[in-house]
Amino acid sequence: MPYDPPGSVPASEALFARAKAVTPGGVNSPVRAFNAVGGTPRFIRSAQGAWLTDVDGNEYVDLICSWGPMLLGHAHPEVLAAVQAAVTRGTSYGTPTQPEVELAEEIVRRTPVEEVRFVSSGTEATMSTIRLARGFTGRDVVVKFAGCYHGHVDALLASAGSGLATFAVPGTPGVPASSTELTLVLPYNDRDAVAKAFAEYGDRIACLITEAAPGNMGVVPPEPGFNAFLAQTCRDHGALFVSDEVMTGFRASKQGHWGLDGKVEGWVPDLVTFGKVMGGGFPAAAFGGRAEIMRRLSPEGPVYQAGTLSGNPIATTAGLTTLRLATDEVYAHVDAAASTVKRAAAEALTAAGVPHVVQSAGTMFSIFLSDTPVRCFDDARRTDEKAYAAFFHSMLDQGVYLPPSAYEAWFLSSAHDERAIDTILAALPAAARAAAASTGSTTEGRR
Ligand SMILES: Cc1ncc(COP(=O)(O)O)c(C=O)c1O
Repeated sequence: MPYDPPGSVPASEALFARAKAVTPGGVNSPVRAFNAVGGTPRFIRSAQGAWLTDVDGNEYVDLICSWGPMLLGHAHPEVLAAVQAAVTRGTSYGTPTQPEVELAEEIVRRTPVEEVRFVSSGTEATMSTIRLARGFTGRDVVVKFAGCYHGHVDALLASAGSGLATFAVPGTPGVPASSTELTLVLPYNDRDAVAKAFAEYGDRIACLITEAAPGNMGVVPPEPGFNAFLAQTCRDHGALFVSDEVMTGFRASKQGHWGLDGKVEGWVPDLVTFGKVMGGGFPAAAFGGRAEIMRRLSPEGPVYQAGTLSGNPIATTAGLTTLRLATDEVYAHVDAAASTVKRAAAEALTAAGVPHVVQSAGTMFSIFLSDTPVRCFDDARRTDEKAYAAFFHSMLDQGVYLPPSAYEAWFLSSAHDERAIDTILAALPAAARAAAASTGSTTEGRR
């Protein structure tokens, strides 16, 4: 229903003012608030295919895609039909159902996991995985990389300690030091740091968790052989290798990043987390792994884990329908569309004289406004945030909704057709010139 604010205030602005009165920052997840780019977030009324329509009636090509899930675009007719049929049968029972079995079978068929457990968010998936890894190994220490985001789990909202291989400190107020004092935070793509940490603490490390290809400091692909090295190092020390594919799973490729280079490099994770695409736009996520490990979970084993809405029949129906529709052709389309956008963005930025680096992991990519390749979080922080903000707002004014932060992946879908791509391409030159006009400031990252 159209929203009619009083007077001539744009509806998004009026809603944002109302939202800020009742919700911290006016949003339910921080990056939506536009703090990194300034201005007012657009409140979206509806979405179809590659397009968002805001409450003022403006249309935008969507390059957020709900931060990854909408691989098939918005309101895909077959996903909607399956969901509508499911809803008429009731929305949640708290008993086992057929769609959750079928979705689990689909995930097991496509990925290296033998068993899978559903949860409602990526955060829950990584949190449960850490608990399971600790329960399975009987060890306490967890290793993660700076710039990899695994949801807002206390033990993983950690910043590096005073030196390499020293324990972490809380990354945010509200996380007690006791929650991060068993976490080691290392620089990404740095084998020496990993080797040193394992040399010192190897017999205490329960698991190493990494984004299969980081997308949360912008896209920073693992250097060739890095994931295989991590898997082998974990194996050598009796620790579990946890691959977080919440973002990359069924998005970077048909399987995830593992599917892109796993077979080539010969690395297999012990545990994997999934989310986003596998929920088809509903709150669903999962974690899985070797049966021997997964069977330590309750009720089969002693490691407790549960959830009222876990495996919800509507969410699993949406996820199952989405995965079944995610064919090779879908990935080929998204890949081709991404290549076109990457090439055009690079050309526009070069023509405007803006230093930039394009980085990809399968169909996911980021454009860093920086003059050096980004291998790790410290590199990512050199990006020119002020120039990105100008670029972002120019694109928005021209009807393209980019992620409102310089440290995010750009997401496309199989619904990004010629009209959507042409709209993006037409907007890029002016946005690149806007970025050129406001280069200059780099701050300390978003988290
Ligand atoms: C790699 C990764 N892991 C975990 C999460 C947390 O997922 P959620 O936001 O569903 O809790 C995210 C969210 O973006 C993510 O990208």
